[in-house]
Order: sequence, then structure tokens, then C-alpha cells
Amino acid sequence: MTVCEAPGKVYLFGEHAVVYGEPAVPAAIERRATVTAEPRSDDHVRVEAEDLSLDGFTVEYSGGTGNRPDVDVPTPLVEAAMGYVDAAVREARAAADAPDAGFDITVESEIPLGAGLGSSAAVVVAGIDAATRALGVQLDRRELADRAYRAEFEVQDGQASRADTFCSTMGGAVRVEGDDCEPIEAPNLPFVVGFDGGAGDTGELVAGVGELREEYGFAADTVESIGDIVRTGEELLSDSAPGADPQRELLAELGELMDFNHGLLSALGVSARSLDSMVWAARDAGAHGAKLTGAGGGGCIVALDASDATETALSFTQGCDEAFRAELATEGVRVVES
Ligand code: PMV
Repeated sequence: MTVCEAPGKVYLFGEHAVVYGEPAVPAAIERRATVTAEPRSDDHVRVEAEDLSLDGFTVEYSGGTGNRPDVDVPTPLVEAAMGYVDAAVREARAAADAPDAGFDITVESEIPLGAGLGSSAAVVVAGIDAATRALGVQLDRRELADRAYRAEFEVQDGQASRADTFCSTMGGAVRVEGDDCEPIEAPNLPFVVGFDGGAGDTGELVAGVGELREEYGFAADTVESIGDIVRTGEELLSDSAPGADPQRELLAELGELMDFNHGLLSALGVSARSLDSMVWAARDAGAHGAKLTGAGGGGCIVALDASDATETALSFTQGCDEAFRAELATEGVRVVES
């Protein structure tokens, strides 16, 4: 039995603009998805999913997701769990050159689904790592990240950037620009997350920004300005002491950039009333800055605050379903048991 766990992420800066070649800086957070892989003597794959913020369920199938099992759970949940786990198993079989390998897979996750925190990437990264290791193969991190990206790309019909899977694999803060992905130094940022209990439609939101950008020069300029914010933020991070608790001054400057980034995302039409009200609750509580994270439309915001004030304020904010502290996860995917 092999057990691996991989972190979720927040976007410190740069979502949406990254689709148009601007850089983005996501950062891994200490909320993890855990995948257990146990090889079977046949070629079946049995998936048990628990704590995916929804009711747990168990399905057993052979071959691919085409052989949809007849189970009494909501279709999106089955598709989410099966699609991603199936793609992860496919990548693990290819990587280990074991096309007929079967597994009992268990998925547990502390990361809200589809809410901009990279839950699917964490499941795919931990899944490929656990399944390949269970077959006696250890992938280097770059290959693991690449295979995880391909798995997401396939399940999401080409709508995946490398940000989530690379960040979940490597941990810490990373910089993504097109196919270029690099870990970057970052201090121990005090993230607080607010979750509205919902999710946005990433495809629709990405398409909406694309249309605005085509129609208006100032929307294209807005996307470029987000790129400028990312570059400014990167400079601040590179001047800071890696792993240390950041100075108030640095938090204030990063927070200001986050506020700016949220304003521009809002101008591009991807915020939502619930997200704006959580962002304002965080700012009113004294957070250094706050912004939506991920595609928007619903889901999560991220704020910077080393004190408890933002988390407390968010927990009393109408429209906020859950608020929690999420420290920077300096370690990416890791083996828990092998
Ligand atoms: O909601 P998430 O975490 O999948 O992030 C989407 C980020 C976008 O930049 C909007 C799209 C992408 O694939 O980069």
C-alpha cells in the first residue's frame, strides 16, 4: 500500500492573465489531498472517495470511464472522482510501463472541490505518485508534474494551465509563464481563505475574459496590467528572506498588490457578490490585502493576515461558508506510507 498526499494552492497573483502569456504566482497551501494506491491481482480499478466536501462513495470499474458504473450518487461527483483518478491511473500505467495494472484507490481531501484551490490537481498529483510508487517506479518531480498536467488537460478538454499541477508537485510558491514553470523563494506567508460554498464555471469565465479582451483595448491593457502586478510581486518576494516570517512592510506591499489584482479581476467580470463581500470583510478586519483566487465567479478568496482577525471576521460574514488559515505548504507532494 502506498499513500501520497499533495497540497492545494492559492493564486497570490496572476490568474486569467496567465492564459494570455502573462506570468502568474500560485502558492501551495497546507490543505492536502491524500491518495492511497494498492495494486490488485487483476486489471480493475476500485475507487473510494471520502471527504470530497460531499458524501463519500465507492465505485468499482474496469477499463476506462467509458464503462460508467451504475451508482446512486450525483453524476458530477462520480465524473470528478472517476475522471481525474482514471487519468491519473492511465498516466501511472504509462510511466511504469504496466498497461494492465489494477489498483484499489482511496481518495481523501481537505480541499474544497472546484473552488479555486486546486483540488483536482492535488488528487491527480498524489494519485500518479502513489500509483507509480506502488508499481515500484519513482518519477522525478518534473516528470510527475508534467504527467499530472497532461492528465488534467485531458479531463478538462484542454482547459488547464500548468499552474495547479506544478505548484502541487513542488510546493512553495512557483512562477508559471506559458510552459515555463519554476519554483521561487517565498517567505512564510500568512494566508487566510474564505470559501462561499460554491464554485465558478472556469470555462465560461475564461471565455468571458477572452471576449472582453477581443472587444476592448482597455480590457487587453487590464490583462497586461495584471502581468505588471505579478512582476512587481515577484520582485518583492525575491528580496525577502525565504521561509522566514515576513516583515509587516512586505506584507503591506504584497497586500496592496493583491487588492489591485482583485480590482482588475473584478473589472474583467470574474468576481461575484460573495467574493467581493468576503474580500471587503477581510480588508475591514485589517488584512494586508485580499483577492479572489482561481477562476472566480464563486469559490474562494485569499487574504494575508498573521492575526486571527480576518478568519474571525470571515466566519461571521454573510455568504462565507467556511474560513480557515492556510499556511504556505513548503513541501509539495510527499509519501506518507510506502
Ligand atoms: O479555478 P482554478 O484554480 O482552476 O484556476 C483557474 C485559473 C485560470 O487562470 C482562470 C485558468 C487557467 O487554466 O490558468
